[in-house]
Amino acid sequence: EPGPRKVRFGSQRLQLDETSSTNTVAWEMADQGRLAEGGIVIAARQTQGKGRRGRRWESPAGGLWLSIVLYPELQVRDVVPLSLVFALAVACALQRFITAPVKVKWPNDVLLGGKKVAGILLEINTEFDMIKYVVAGIGVNVNLRAEDLPAALRDQATSLYLETGQEFDLEAVLSAILAELEKAYARYLETGFKGLRRQFMERCAHFGQPVTVHTQGRDLSGIDQGIDDHGCLRLKLKDGRLVRVTAGDVMPG
Ligand code: BTN
Repeated sequence: EPGPRKVRFGSQRLQLDETSSTNTVAWEMADQGRLAEGGIVIAARQTQGKGRRGRRWESPAGGLWLSIVLYPELQVRDVVPLSLVFALAVACALQRFITAPVKVKWPNDVLLGGKKVAGILLEINTEFDMIKYVVAGIGVNVNLRAEDLPAALRDQATSLYLETGQEFDLEAVLSAILAELEKAYARYLETGFKGLRRQFMERCAHFGQPVTVHTQGRDLSGIDQGIDDHGCLRLKLKDGRLVRVTAGDVMPG
C-alpha cells in the first residue's frame, strides 16, 4: 500500500509504579524486540529520570513520565526534527486543558507562563547509518507541587497545577498527548518538518527575540529568525551574519 503506514501510539502499554528511567526500560525492551511500534512504557515515578545533555529530570509522583518506541524508515538526519514535532504535539495536547498559551522553546521544551512544563528526550539507536529504533521520552509536570521541584529550578520550571491551581486527571492528559503525537508523527512522515514548521513558529516563545544559544561548547547571541524546513534555528548574529543551529539550549537575551 502506498504512503507511510499509520502508527498507533499507545498500542502496547507497560505501566510501572517506579523505575529508573522509562527511556532506559523502553530501550532495553526495543533491543529485545519486546516493544511494538507505538508501544509505551510509563511510570508513576522515576528514580533516575534523564533530561537532555546528561541532566537529571526530577520525576516524583504526580507527573507523566513515559517513553514511546518507533521504528521509522528514515535517515538519522530526518529523525532529529522529531523532537520539535513531539514538543509541538505535547504543547497542543496541554492547550486542550488550559486557556493560558502553551508555548514551545526550540528545540524541544514546552513552556507555560515562561517556565518549562514539559520536555522531550529523543534517543536514537543506529547501526551504521540505519536506524534500529527511536525512543522518545516525554516528561510532563502535571500535578507537581512547588516542593516537588528542586529549589534551584523553581524560577525555571513549573507544572500545570502550579500555573492553574487545578489538578488534572493523568489518564486524560495522557490520551490527549498520545492522540496529538500520533497525528503529528503521521503528518511528519508525510510532509517532513516543512508541513509543521508554521505551526511550530506560531507557538514559539522566542521568535523575533534576542537570544543566546549554547551550542557545541560556545554561546551564540543574536536575533531568532525562526526555524527552517529542517528544524534548524536561524540566528542573525550581531555582525549581521546568518547562522543555522541544529541543536543547543536557547536562553533569552
Ligand atoms: C529535557 O527537557 O531535558 C527532556 C526531559 C525528558 C524527561 C522524560 S520523563 C520520561 C522519559 N524518561 C526519562 O528518563 N526521561 C524522559
